[in-house]
Amino acid sequence: MANDVRPESMARINTPELAQAFIDEQITEIRAQVGDKKVLLALSGGVDSSVCAALISKAIGKQLVCVHVNHGLLRKGEPEQVCEVFGKQFDVNLIYVDAIDRFLDALAGVSDPETKRKIIGKIFIDVFAEEARKLEGVSFLGQGTIYPDILESHGVKAHHNVGGLPEDMRDFELVEPVKFLYKDEVRCVGHELGLPDNMVYRQPFPGPGLGVRCVGAITRDRLEALREADAIVREEIGKLPVTPWQYFCAIPDIQSTGIKYVDGKGERYMGWAVVIRAVNTVDAVTATVPEIPFDVLCKMRDEIVKIPGVNRVLWDISEKPVATIEWE
Ligand code: XMP
Repeated sequence: MANDVRPESMARINTPELAQAFIDEQITEIRAQVGDKKVLLALSGGVDSSVCAALISKAIGKQLVCVHVNHGLLRKGEPEQVCEVFGKQFDVNLIYVDAIDRFLDALAGVSDPETKRKIIGKIFIDVFAEEARKLEGVSFLGQGTIYPDILESHGVKAHHNVGGLPEDMRDFELVEPVKFLYKDEVRCVGHELGLPDNMVYRQPFPGPGLGVRCVGAITRDRLEALREADAIVREEIGKLPVTPWQYFCAIPDIQSTGIKYVDGKGERYMGWAVVIRAVNTVDAVTATVPEIPFDVLCKMRDEIVKIPGVNRVLWDISEKPVATIEWE
C-alpha cells in the first residue's frame, strides 16, 4: 500500500527557495519512478492538476500526455488558457477533447442536482477512458491529489478519481507528486514553476462547473448568459483590494417581466435574473457574506443586463448555513 502520511520532517513550503528544492526533488523522483514509460493525466485547468502537469512535464517532457475534456461547463476563457499554457508554453502532449454536445445533450431536461452531478461525472470518466484506450504504452496515471484529499478520504470523501475509473484502467500506477502538499504549498510551487497567477491563485471551482450554477435543467442559452455574467463578476470583484474567498454567479430557471425600449416604445421583455454570490470562509463548512461596495454592484448590474436574455440582477446575501455556497 502506498505511503499516505506526510513525513514529519517536511518543512512547510512557503518560499521560492523551498519551492525550487521541492521541484528539483520531485523531478528526480518522477524520473526514477517512470523511466521511459508514458504518464496520462486528466488536466482540468484547476490548480492541483495544473501544478501536477507542470511538474511531471518538467521531469519527463513528451512522455506526459494530458487530456483536457471540455464539458461545456467551464468558465469563459478556461479551455483556451489550458491550451495556451500547456500546449504552447509548457509544450506538453495535449489532447483537447471537445465533448460539449455530449455533455449538454445528456443533461438536457435533467433538473435534479445530484442526477446532473452523476451524469457529468460519468461522462467525464467515459470520455477520459476512451481517450486513454486510443493511446499505446501508457503505464502511469498522473493525479493532482493533494494532502487534504488524502486526509478527507479517511471517512468523508472517496479518494479522488481513481475509484471511478473502469476496471481495465485500474492497473495504472499512480504518479502523485503533490500528494503531501497543502493548498498554499501547491500554489507556491505552481508560482515557482511559472504558471500564470490567475491559474495558481484562482478561486475554488466545482468539478461539475457551471452545471451546478445553471440551476435546474440546463439550456444552452441560459448557460451562455451565465458564462458571460460570471466573467463580468470575476473581473469586477477581482479588482477589489481584498477579494472574497469565492465569487461567482448563478442563474435560476425563472423568467420575470421586464421592459425594453425599441424606437422609444416600451415592450415587455421576459428575462432571467442573474444572481451575484460572494462568500468568505475558512473551510467552506460555514460562510459569511462580505460587503461589496454599491458602486461595484451597480457597475456589474449595468454590464450584466446587456447580456441577451437577462433583465434582472440580484445579490445573494445568504450565509451558510442555512444556504449552501453553491445554488445546487
Ligand atoms: P457548498 O455549496 O456545499 O460548497 O456550500 C462548498 C464548496 O465546495 C464547492 N463545491 C464543489 N466542489 N464538486 C466540487 O469539486 C462539487 O460537486 C461541488 N459542490 C460544491 C463549492 O464551490 C464551495 O467552494
